Amino acid sequence: MNKEVIVACDFNSKEELIKFLSLFTEESVYLKVGMELFYAEGPAIIKEIKSRGHKIFLDLKLHDIPNTVKKAMNVLSKLDVDMVNVHAAGTIAMMEAAIEGLTKEDGTRPLIIAVTQLTSTSEERMRDDLLIEKPIEDVVLHYAMNTKRAGLDGIVCSAHEAKKIHRECGEDFLTITPGIRFADSNVGDQVRVMTPEQAKVEGADYIVVGRPITQADNPVEAYHRCKKEFCS
Ligand code: C5P
Repeated sequence: MNKEVIVACDFNSKEELIKFLSLFTEESVYLKVGMELFYAEGPAIIKEIKSRGHKIFLDLKLHDIPNTVKKAMNVLSKLDVDMVNVHAAGTIAMMEAAIEGLTKEDGTRPLIIAVTQLTSTSEERMRDDLLIEKPIEDVVLHYAMNTKRAGLDGIVCSAHEAKKIHRECGEDFLTITPGIRFADSNVGDQVRVMTPEQAKVEGADYIVVGRPITQADNPVEAYHRCKKEFCS
């Protein structure tokens, strides 16, 4: 299995992103583009990044009725991104519709993964706000199984959960793991962090790394450090 480092481009503007990308003259990187940047700049930002030869995980977390998600995914499939995502809470039918919309006429499609429970949702909020009474680990695992049943490629999870997800959903089921910090870097607002090297040991397939790279004094060096620890 190919391990890849995805850089979370949590920038507010195209200018900041381009400034960051212009540091990477020698290689192509895998970038996570989120709602802020996509909604501000539109599909043009995707074309701009692609024209520079980089890969894209378009993190829009679709969640709607199956027909709407299918049609939206059909539009996204034309952007030629490498990975997209949905909320598993949208149900198996919605996830199946997402795949249908995403698949091109030649049968190819980008990777598609699901978000289970957002890490901002505590067990207490799940119980009181959403009336879900089960322990959060059970809910996450159940959503992961649903994601697999629907035919998606994997889920976003903590590297702490990667082994368990692989055990329950299979080694081929991808784990995309944020919350990554170098042993000597600031944790910031993340709670359960892991180094790239530990994430590799836990069997994560992709790590999503933002500030340890984007806010580093030397982002290119930090990116190479991540790749060395995680991919080699
Ligand atoms: O800067 P940092 O490395 O903390 O960025 C992590 C990225 O992964 C951010 O874009 C954040 O929104 C995203 N993410 C996360 N935890 C999740 C899901 C996504 O940190 N559970």
